[in-house]
Amino acid sequence: MKTVTVKVPSGQYEVKIGAGLLPSLGNEVRTSTNAKRCAVIAGENVFPLYGEASLKSLRSAGLEAVSLVFPAGEQTKCLGRYGELLEFLAENRLTRSDCVIALGGGVTGDLSGFAAATYQRGVAYIQVPTTLLAAVDSSVGGKTAIDLPQGKNQAGAFYQPALVLCDTDTLATLPERELRAGFAEVIKYAVLFDPALFAALRDKTVDLPSVIETCVKHKAAIVAEDERDTGLRRLLNLGHSFGHAVESRSHYALLHGEAVAIGTVMICRAARSRGLLSREDCAAVIALLEAYGLPVETEYTAAELFDTLLIDKKFSGGKLHLIVPRRIGHCDIVAVTPGELRFWLEEGLR
Ligand code: NAD
Ligand code: GLY
Repeated sequence: MKTVTVKVPSGQYEVKIGAGLLPSLGNEVRTSTNAKRCAVIAGENVFPLYGEASLKSLRSAGLEAVSLVFPAGEQTKCLGRYGELLEFLAENRLTRSDCVIALGGGVTGDLSGFAAATYQRGVAYIQVPTTLLAAVDSSVGGKTAIDLPQGKNQAGAFYQPALVLCDTDTLATLPERELRAGFAEVIKYAVLFDPALFAALRDKTVDLPSVIETCVKHKAAIVAEDERDTGLRRLLNLGHSFGHAVESRSHYALLHGEAVAIGTVMICRAARSRGLLSREDCAAVIALLEAYGLPVETEYTAAELFDTLLIDKKFSGGKLHLIVPRRIGHCDIVAVTPGELRFWLEEGLR
């Protein structure tokens, strides 16, 4: 097992990564929280695979455990499901010292984390990521959210988990398309911080547990510097500003990771066209995303994406922070006005 410690101003917790960790969930809850009762929250695809094992482990450790199962998919990250979850916690009399377990991908983690942040003004929660995307990104760092009809992640909280328990065996049942989408976030870390990871991904000389550990270390370092996303943490939005717009426009027909891949290509093309990124590095990023089966083009126009971006939550103080690759392993944060953004979008689609 590999352990990465996340140290943030609001506290400290461990990310445990390894095969066969799920049966230790109950003991881990006992060690990392004061819970007597736990609510396991999972999607309809994940619960039949890992729900019973989770409940069994919790009960064997002497904890009471209840479960709630949601439909799979981004549409579950909504006000209605959030309300349902809060009511479920109340009906099952979870107290402030009890614990929510988010068993699943980023959708379950974001929704359950937001409910945990707000139920009785905050109860402990544990992330048990079962997708690659959740393992390398969404389960770590305490961003929780639901979507509103007006846009993605428009209501949420910064609220750190008490523990992240990543059993890499669970990734074996992940559909191929979801695994590929997770690699978009892995490639993000490589472009942001890590030429060695980039080369290893290109040469396919990596194993999943090590990739996850490497990405989590990068994320832990950034989150330690900037827990609330006012500075350096913005870097983690590489590919996300344009990606969110593409994702929203597709009404979530595109997976989050697929949209991030398209957004990454767009910002690389725009950076190349401005002479900020070399032609070779731009081509290398696109080739790597393609090698992992990710989409690199979109049918949406710059005007369509611009309209969607205007509601992006990262558009604050009249400026949007774009994350601009300068070379593999280094990106800059560039604040742009709406007028400038139009040009970046147009260049990104050329
Ligand atoms: P997801 O949670 O929708 O899971 C993907 C699909 O795989 C679902 O159908 C799910 O049921 C299924 N699944 C999950 N684990 C499985 C397994 N082990 N075996 C079989 N099927 C499994 O998608 P995701 O890509 O994990 O997460 C995307 C979400 O994460 C988006 O809402 C995005 O906004 C959010 N996100 C949040 C952060 C953050 O920092 N909080 C970061 C990145 C992404
Ligand atoms: N996924 C971006 C962040 O956690 O900041």
